[in-house]
Order: sequence, then structure tokens, then C-alpha cells
Amino acid sequence: MTHPRSSIADPVIRVRGLRKVYGDVEAVRGIDLDVARGEVFALLGPNGAGKTTTLEILEGYRVRTGGDVSVLGVDPARRDPGFLARIGICLQATGIERYLTVREVLELYAGYYPRPRPVSELLDTVELQDAAGTLVRRLSGGQRRRLDLALALAGDPELLYLDEPTTGFDPEARRGAWDLVRSFRGAGRTVILTTHQMDEAEALADRIGVMVDGRIVALGTAGEIVGGRATGTHIRWRTSRASVDGPMAASEPSTLAGSLVQHEPDGGRSLRTDDPSRALHELTGWAMTQGVVLDDLRVGRATLEDAYLELVAAHGRDVSSDAP
Ligand SMILES: Nc1ncnc2c1ncn2[C@@H]1O[C@H](COP(=O)(O)OP(=O)(O)OP(=O)(O)O)[C@@H](O)[C@H]1O
Ligand SMILES: [Mg+2]
Repeated sequence: MTHPRSSIADPVIRVRGLRKVYGDVEAVRGIDLDVARGEVFALLGPNGAGKTTTLEILEGYRVRTGGDVSVLGVDPARRDPGFLARIGICLQATGIERYLTVREVLELYAGYYPRPRPVSELLDTVELQDAAGTLVRRLSGGQRRRLDLALALAGDPELLYLDEPTTGFDPEARRGAWDLVRSFRGAGRTVILTTHQMDEAEALADRIGVMVDGRIVALGTAGEIVGGRATGTHIRWRTSRASVDGPMAASEPSTLAGSLVQHEPDGGRSLRTDDPSRALHELTGWAMTQGVVLDDLRVGRATLEDAYLELVAAHGRDVSSDAP
């Protein structure tokens, strides 16, 4: 496990022993976390891990059960107006006024803040200029999400909370949102976000926390998280029989270069090895002699996704036991 390196001098967000219980569900089970000024911090984790709960406690939107939290030097639970004016929030699920136009909603929200950003600038930032006069309820899912992002920026915040900000975005809009986050951070401000997209975390985050079942099980840069778990070279392939008759599976190697061949849920095979030359030699040798075609053969370093899946498997509760 990558040991949580949670302590930072003068952090914007400081969390110690945070707990949240809903009835008999313990959603957050004692987490420690510091986020530095100017940092983009990403929380990753499976559905129900406690990411939204954590974020919303740090926003002052939910009340914690236990632990200490300080954000921008204050306890967010007090919902101090001075604090709320300094933060911007893109919730996972929003209920913005459906019968107003995009421009009207932005004007409404901007009016809540002491130093709002101009509405025309917000429209440009998320490329909704052409939809300014459209009713919110007529926007597409991706356009709605872009509006959510614009609303989070309306008060020109120092600290931005983004809960799955690019869900539903087309690839171009996603890149646009990434640029937006980067330029926001470039101005010395801080972002904490959640995402299920590993490439998004790698593209944006200075540091990542992987949350599983209410606990942070790994904390560090993407490189540290990958290096701490999934090392070596990953070889992946699929097979189809070429010209030779007879059952292919019978001769299929269970190990290559001394490492165990894993059976993937999608029917593919994978292997992690520190001796890729020998493993590939054995694999291709077997395929040649057996007349097996290696479809989609891939060789590469372990990815953040590999490390993430390992962490979730290693720390996850047996979710099948939760089934009704
Ligand atoms: N308002 C609530 N009342 C009761 N239980 C809740 C409430 N909100 C969340 N939970 C429970 O707390 C746990 C954590 O939920 P949370 O929404 O924080 O997860 P998440 O990591 O954001 O998941 P996702 O990736 O699906 O958004 C889940 O078991 C969820 O069912
Ligand atoms: Mg969530």
C-alpha cells in the first residue's frame, strides 16, 4: 500500500479523523487529508466509496459525525458567508432552475457573490455563448454540466470543488474542461475533484487519493500510486485458433517466465512480469507451435487504472454480501 502522506504545511484543506455515519451506514471511516494551495487533488474510488460525502462535508453541505475539518482556515460546517463566498461548487447532482435561461441562471448565481465574474466571461469559459438564451430544461446533458461548471466559477472562487465534473461531456468538451481546470489552478488557486475517469485524474491531478469503503487506501502522485502497487511490465492478449484443430485451451500456458497468467473477465489474458523478453518469447513460441493467433497483443507499463483496480480489489468490501 502507498502510505498516506497526508501532512502538508499550511494546507487549504485539512482533515483529521473525518467520519460520517448515515443511520447504520458508515460512509466515511476516519480519513486524514491535506490539500495544498495551488494544488489539484483528485479523489478516486468506486460507487459508494464516500467521495461525495467527503466533498460535501468540506463544502459545508453535509454535517460530519466526527473528526476535525478546516478549509481556508475555518470550519465549513459553520457555513460562514465569508467562507461560502470564497468557494465554488459543482455538485454531482444539481437542481438548478429549469425554467430560466442559461444567462438568467448565471446572473442569478453571480448576484449571490460579492465579486462575481462577468456573465459573458462565464459563458465564454464553458462555451455556452450560443445557448445563452436557451431554457435550462432544454439543454443537453453535457450542456447542463457545462452550466454547472460555469455556476461553480460564478463567484470567482479561490477553491473549487468539482464532483464528477465532466460526466456526460463529449471528448472535446472534456478537453475544454481540463483546460479550464488547469488555467484555474495556474492562477494559484486550488481544486478538489472526484472522477471515475483515470485519464482525467492523470491529466489534471497533482495528487490523488484512492478511497475505498470510506477509507483512503492510497495517497500520492499518479506515479507514486502506480509505483507503489502495480510494478513490472503488463502483457495482455486474446487468442483465437488459426489453422490447427483441437482444443486450444488444453495447451494454454498457465505461467510465462515464472509468472501466473491471469484470466480477465472479458475473456482476455494478462500477465505481469519483470522479465518481459522471456515471457513474450514463451508466449509467442507457444502461439507459433500451437497455431494460435495472438489477437490484440499489448505490452506496456502498469497504468493508474491497473493500480486502482488492484487497490479496490485488495481493500474492497465483498459487495456481493450487501445484495438484498
Ligand atoms: N443522504 C444519504 N443518506 C443515507 N446514506 C447516504 C446518503 N448519501 C450517501 N449515502 C451512502 O453513503 C455511502 C457513500 O456515498 P457517496 O455518495 O459519498 O459515495 P461516492 O463515492 O460519491 O459514490 P459515487 O461514485 O457513486 O458518486 C453510500 O453507501 C451511500 O449509499
Ligand atoms: Mg459521488
